[in-house]
Amino acid sequence: MELIDGKATAAAIKQEIAAEVRQMLAAGKRAPHLAAILVGHDGGSETYVAAKVKACEECGFTSTLLRFESDITQEQLLAEVERLNQDPEVDGFIVQLPLPKHIDSQRVIEAIDYRKDVDGFHPVNVGRLSIGLPCFVSATPMGIMDLLERYHIETKGKHCVVLGRSNIVGKPVASLMMQKAYPGNATVTVCHSASENLKQICASADILIAAIGQPEFVTADMVKEGATVIDVGTTRVPDATKKSGFKLKGDVKFDEVAPKCAFITPVPGGVGPMTICSLMKNTLKAGKGVNW
Ligand code: GUN
Repeated sequence: MELIDGKATAAAIKQEIAAEVRQMLAAGKRAPHLAAILVGHDGGSETYVAAKVKACEECGFTSTLLRFESDITQEQLLAEVERLNQDPEVDGFIVQLPLPKHIDSQRVIEAIDYRKDVDGFHPVNVGRLSIGLPCFVSATPMGIMDLLERYHIETKGKHCVVLGRSNIVGKPVASLMMQKAYPGNATVTVCHSASENLKQICASADILIAAIGQPEFVTADMVKEGATVIDVGTTRVPDATKKSGFKLKGDVKFDEVAPKCAFITPVPGGVGPMTICSLMKNTLKAGKGVNW
């Protein structure tokens, strides 16, 4: 069994990005610029956005954090989005989710110019992804593909089972895994809460991508000997021994599943660190100019 080290892979990719930024600066160009809109004071969002700003520093990017109180109106937020759409100094931006209940998140996402949508959430990017056109790929699916590639995991003709059908992980990763490319070219099955014979389907997977959001859902009897298991789960469970008061639990019962695997991602330190790194890759791409 080989452990897939997302933390080290993400660090290596950020160094590669930083080297490219140095070349851009040496060629007289400006550094890529990412802006982030953060509404309210949700603990998780604060942590994620702080990590994104820090990653920008590591990559040599410019970053701007725009903070608003949770009573901002939808019209005001849409006006901020439009301002960033028009700002030639901003290459890409994100609106951190979740947004307060009185704001229609989908409406906000669709207001973002898809050429600056480095989260890859805009329907134009999602649609382009599904038909294999250049686009911004959302962070978690891209992180998973990068891990498969960097660990030279064979995907062509393999049975890939995706557990979970969310718009930001399950659906796009299934699209990428069936694309005629490497990584990809797999036979893909998407399972979800209503799937019959779920255990048997998972047990037939050469590559199992668990993105169901239920801690330790995947047990040893659901995993084929020699499979690659990618654990996307990051559920916070209380843990009094941690300073934060919680620890992250994956969707896979790691201790019993790991011995059966050829490759497996741990939680934390697997897919998680790759997601912010993917956002940096998209920002670099935006900084170089998007011509689609
Ligand atoms: N909230 C949780 N994950 C994400 C993400 O990838 N992007 C944004 N904008 N919000 C999030």
